[in-house]
Amino acid sequence: MSRPYLFLLAGAAAAQALEPRQTFNQSIPPTTTLNDSGSVIENPTAFATPFVLNVEDMWDLLVGSVTSAATTTTVSATPVPASSLIPPPPLYYSPFPTGQQYPMELKNESWSFSRSFLWGVASAAFQIEGAVRDDGRGPSVWDVLGHRVTNYEVNNYTADVVDNNYYLYKEDLARIAALGVKAYSFSLSWSRIMPFGRGPVNQVAIDHYNDVINTCLEYDIIPLVTLYHWDTPLVLQDTYGGWLSEDIVNDFVAYASVAFAAFGDRVTYWFTVNEPIVFCQQYPLPAHYFKNFTIPAEHQQFYCGQSVLLAHSQAYHLGKSMMPNSIIAYKNNGGYKIPLTNSTEDAQAVQRAWDFNEGWFSDPVYLTGDYPASVKNYTASFLRPLTQQEMQSINGSADIYAHDAYTSQFYFAPDGGIDACLANSSNPLYPTCANTSYTYSAADGGWLIGPAADPGASWLHKATDWVPQFLNYIADTWAGGRPIVVSEFGFAEPFEADKTLLQDILYDPLRMSYYHDYTRAMLIALSEGVNLIGCLAWSFVDNFEWASGFSIRFGMQYVNFSDPALPRYYKASFFEYKSAFDIYQEQ
Ligand SMILES: *[C@@H]1O[C@H](CO)[C@@H](O)[C@H](O)[C@H]1NC(C)=O
Ligand SMILES: *[C@@H]1O[C@H](CO)[C@@H](O)[C@H](O)[C@H]1NC(C)=O
Ligand SMILES: *[C@@H]1O[C@H](CO)[C@@H](O)[C@H](O)[C@H]1NC(C)=O
Ligand SMILES: *[C@@H]1O[C@H](CO)[C@@H](O)[C@H](O)[C@H]1NC(C)=O
Ligand SMILES: *[C@@H]1O[C@H](CO)[C@@H](O)[C@H](O)[C@H]1NC(C)=O
Ligand SMILES: *[C@@H]1O[C@H](CO)[C@@H](O)[C@H](O)[C@H]1NC(C)=O
Ligand SMILES: *[C@@H]1O[C@H](CO)[C@@H](O)[C@H](O)[C@H]1NC(C)=O
Ligand SMILES: *[C@@H]1O[C@H](CO)[C@@H](O)[C@H](O)[C@H]1NC(C)=O
Ligand SMILES: *[C@@H]1O[C@H](CO)[C@@H](O)[C@H](O)[C@H]1NC(C)=O
Ligand SMILES: *[C@@H]1O[C@H](CO)[C@@H](O)[C@H](O)[C@H]1NC(C)=O
Ligand SMILES: *[C@@H]1O[C@H](CO)[C@@H](O)[C@H](O)[C@H]1NC(C)=O
Repeated sequence: MSRPYLFLLAGAAAAQALEPRQTFNQSIPPTTTLNDSGSVIENPTAFATPFVLNVEDMWDLLVGSVTSAATTTTVSATPVPASSLIPPPPLYYSPFPTGQQYPMELKNESWSFSRSFLWGVASAAFQIEGAVRDDGRGPSVWDVLGHRVTNYEVNNYTADVVDNNYYLYKEDLARIAALGVKAYSFSLSWSRIMPFGRGPVNQVAIDHYNDVINTCLEYDIIPLVTLYHWDTPLVLQDTYGGWLSEDIVNDFVAYASVAFAAFGDRVTYWFTVNEPIVFCQQYPLPAHYFKNFTIPAEHQQFYCGQSVLLAHSQAYHLGKSMMPNSIIAYKNNGGYKIPLTNSTEDAQAVQRAWDFNEGWFSDPVYLTGDYPASVKNYTASFLRPLTQQEMQSINGSADIYAHDAYTSQFYFAPDGGIDACLANSSNPLYPTCANTSYTYSAADGGWLIGPAADPGASWLHKATDWVPQFLNYIADTWAGGRPIVVSEFGFAEPFEADKTLLQDILYDPLRMSYYHDYTRAMLIALSEGVNLIGCLAWSFVDNFEWASGFSIRFGMQYVNFSDPALPRYYKASFFEYKSAFDIYQEQ
């Protein structure tokens, strides 16, 4: 009854759309009731336009005007002055005597990081690059969320400029190299490389990322590349609903193929997607800004998840065929799950929480090709089952286990028990039916699991005590002998964005203590035999924290967002992080 939705920009049509602007006179009177054949139909809203928009049209019509940085050419790196590399005085750490001066900290001789241990820092394109409309980049859903959706962002912040890393990457890489960082994890902007998410490839974007990668290699920094970190090309969202549709699978694999072909000669480590639990649970996107979708809101995340598993596994197999020595996985996320009490019900709640979070993706990829039984049971009434062939393709489609492992949390049965919750789809905890808390039980004193991060990151507490168990759990449950990478970990210093004095900002004691204790926790896990091969700290600079904008900060370097061309400054935590490897990495 209706024509295909808006921008169908495949192949030649898309190439044409990159040509300079054209004027279109087509219009459909809003009151028309004629369908394609000139007959009367009953649902006039089913009409769709045949407009073809170029990149500039999309920005003008679908996003609006954007802010440009003052600096819009690539800046050469300046040498990092020796005066910037003096570490701060130490904090006090309980297992060791007081009075030690860095780097004289006592060493536990049972611990070490191997020479090849990949310690590094992580970032994501949309959170650092800025230059959103420059050099042919097409808009992503996040440009619309920032510009069009009222109050989606704290303070209506946008990512138009952020760190201006698109132009300042040489300086950024020089500054992490100056601290001896061995690995840099970053993501590609899909809509920079393919402005419409499919169809034509933007050579300027390929050139840019080539230089980012080559600059890493000049500094002996190992690049780890993520294909997708939440910035879905807007055309794909507006055409078929992005990850809600299996149409995205072919488009993602085509994009992956472009990236593998362009960069695979120099990049060994690839992550297909970042944190599917998070971006799938962001569906439904706000109504009225994107293609409307009729899938019930509570089911949308599972459609997204299924597309992710199909897209990831196909990209994995393509990547292995194109780059036999590559190491490919996706990035999982979630905290360690601890039963609040020793009751059987709380143990069941913990298992359901693993199933509906990590297990949703990790059971298919690392264990069986299919969902955990509890998830499958829930989705069976609406989601098509995976075919045998798809399950075989998904099963084993990862070479390492990569986990963004920030924190830990207690889990317990809902009020009235798990069975009552499972029988009541109105229960706010349905279908997982596991309740959560950051405090110990009243019997254990009711204390927090560890110090809270910024209130804007209420999900995050410093719970580093649990990291060894967490890594053992991953090794025993999913990794199956594969190496493990902590692909993100980090801390939002409380109220840091409220501080105005630079020296106050640079001394970040909770973040220091987080990195100190987390690195020691990884050393304990290594001493227990966990096959941990790397860790990537989030993040190497302050950046755009999604819907929280600039209101919470995760950087180990300060950035003044009123003018990102002002110098970056190392915070004390960056030296703390580095010192763990000065002390414990074998030379
Ligand atoms: C247009 O409407 C007529 C009458 O309702 C119907 O028979 C015909 O199939 C419709 N054509 C299209 C392309 O939807
Ligand atoms: C669009 O319409 C205007 C006014 O009716 C006309 O002058 C112009 O030539 C048309 N442009 C195209 C591309 O048809
Ligand atoms: C965000 O934008 C909306 C719409 O323009 C406005 O009503 C609101 O006050 C803005 N919020 C802030 C914090 O500026
Ligand atoms: C789009 O979806 C929302 C619910 O998500 C609904 O309220 C709205 O009416 C829909 N709009 C159209 C045009 O279907
Ligand atoms: C749970 O059991 C362990 C020993 O198995 C015990 O040390 C701990 O105190 C118990 N916790 C609670 C909350 O009962
Ligand atoms: C998934 O792969 C593992 C080995 O990697 C194998 O033991 C298991 O049987 C496979 N599961 C299915 C359902 O094919
Ligand atoms: C599936 O759900 C039904 C009804 O909620 C329940 O009776 C059954 O035990 C569940 N099966 C599994 C494998 O969880
Ligand atoms: C979850 O736990 C909190 C704190 O104990 C409680 O107040 C709340 O009612 C629980 N929610 C459900 C749905 O069981
Ligand atoms: C189901 O859960 C809702 C929300 O918590 C509650 O209001 C309702 O009473 C529950 N229904 C039953 C039958 O327990
Ligand atoms: C950030 O830069 C502005 C000038 O653009 C300056 O007024 C402010 O003091 C700077 N903030 C800090 C913390 O250095
Ligand atoms: C040194 O490390 C070993 C192995 O992890 C551990 O058993 C021991 O308690 C540690 N010693 C100190 C003083 O932390």
